[in-house]
Amino acid sequence: MSVALAFDIYGTLIDPHGVVDELSKHVGDRAQDFSNIWRDKQLEYTWRRALMQRYENFPVCTRQALDYTDTLLQTNLGESAKVALMQVYRVLPAYDDVPASLQSLADSGFRMFGFSNGVAEAVSGLLEHAGIDRYFEGVVSVDALQTFKPSPDVYHHFIEVADTAPENCWLVSSNGFDVIGAVSAGMKAAWLKRSQSVVFDPWGVEPTLVLHGLDELNQKIII
Ligand code: 2OP
Repeated sequence: MSVALAFDIYGTLIDPHGVVDELSKHVGDRAQDFSNIWRDKQLEYTWRRALMQRYENFPVCTRQALDYTDTLLQTNLGESAKVALMQVYRVLPAYDDVPASLQSLADSGFRMFGFSNGVAEAVSGLLEHAGIDRYFEGVVSVDALQTFKPSPDVYHHFIEVADTAPENCWLVSSNGFDVIGAVSAGMKAAWLKRSQSVVFDPWGVEPTLVLHGLDELNQKIII
């Protein structure tokens, strides 16, 4: 089958809020708030760096967002706590529905790739740690282009690496900005609505599919 699935990593296969347990050792009951601000700021830094053409890789954006959040919330994390948190970022867990869903997609013959803002080595490490690396033909990272999602360049790069027609390339992502980026660049996209309260951006660019769990993808995908 020539259909290539490009799985977003953070927020789609891997839970960026898997840092909350480690955070609670340092900031107690503010851990979830801290994690939310940290993730939002991390993404903001990627967008700003792409726009300004001042690329620094995803680990740098993540560490600078951690420093920002610590200062904002006056949590006074020391360097060793920050190093421990960055280490947890390298072993974040997969969401519960991921392994069985990937197995069923593999059984159906889909080609699968990790496709991320993250650097390839860190993404491969996460997939290995979660025991799901065997499902992937490869990891496609924005790092090769020194920019971030949703630059059209990164979706075109994916299509080139997958070496198939754009209409055979599907992004699977919980991140609305990523879905709009992929559809705008000519790919198809499944938006994984991991939380009931999340709202899709009203830009007039719609996902090809909406999923309420990754397990729905194999049945709903139109090929
Ligand atoms: C990823 O590229 C957007 O964080 C998301 O993995």
